[in-house]
Amino acid sequence: MVQKIRIGALISGGGTNLQAIIDACESEKINGKMVFVGSDNPEAGGLERGKKHDIPTFFVDYVSILRDFKKNPKDAILPDDFNTNDVLSKHCLFPSDYKIEKVKTFMQSRAIAEAKLIDKMNNYPFDLLVLAGFMRALTPYFIDRINSDPGNPRIMNIHPALLPAFPGVDGYGDTFRYGCKVGGCTVHFIDYGEDSGPIIGQKAFQIDSNDTLDTIRQKGLKLEWELYPECIQLFAQGRLKTVNKTYILPNNKKAQRTVVEILPEI
Ligand code: GAR
Repeated sequence: MVQKIRIGALISGGGTNLQAIIDACESEKINGKMVFVGSDNPEAGGLERGKKHDIPTFFVDYVSILRDFKKNPKDAILPDDFNTNDVLSKHCLFPSDYKIEKVKTFMQSRAIAEAKLIDKMNNYPFDLLVLAGFMRALTPYFIDRINSDPGNPRIMNIHPALLPAFPGVDGYGDTFRYGCKVGGCTVHFIDYGEDSGPIIGQKAFQIDSNDTLDTIRQKGLKLEWELYPECIQLFAQGRLKTVNKTYILPNNKKAQRTVVEILPEI
């Protein structure tokens, strides 16, 4: 029997994806075990779901950390291993002409919260971190500490749209308002940008004239609950390989992209 992978989850809300992953572990659709559920929000309903399954839970209260930082940025104590220049040179969350002071404030305040998250996560060794409705952007500070081997990313996210369309906080809303005739969801590895990392899997659904934002969300979530466990199981089977590709475009310029190759089952 192959060793189960240890999965940690971060959530912000109700946690229906978390539930689908826990259930898939319990029914052995995923060869894995959930080892913690963490949140940025003490009120997150998903924390209760974790507790019901005897999974350790914790939260880091982002709201109060960000509020304290805003009140007194000069007194803020940054993590010992935080390097502002390193983080500023790597992040792709803001356009390059964005005010540097604002970016700095964003990165520093988040890193304070992220260091606390890492501290708590360190109590529960894990192989894969899944973001299941975790509504906070992660900085390079956090990502580098989890992805200690950059060729083997191990933070996954589920996004409620067919990326690269509609990154951000309201994928189904954006899909609906744009008048799309197809919607969907995407599981991807996290990189330094917003919902821009290598895509692992996608599922799509038809949108017809009777659909509302509500029915679109229902159709999408139903697919999320299938897609996320499937992608996690591919990881558990060691079948996800990230590959750096270079393509020559019709204008002879080069385009580079890291993509995920799905290896055949052995
Ligand atoms: C899901 O639709 C997920 O795709 C989305 O939040 C919802 C969480 O629902 N995630 C994002 O938008 C991430 N940017 P859940 O708490 O019931 O799993």
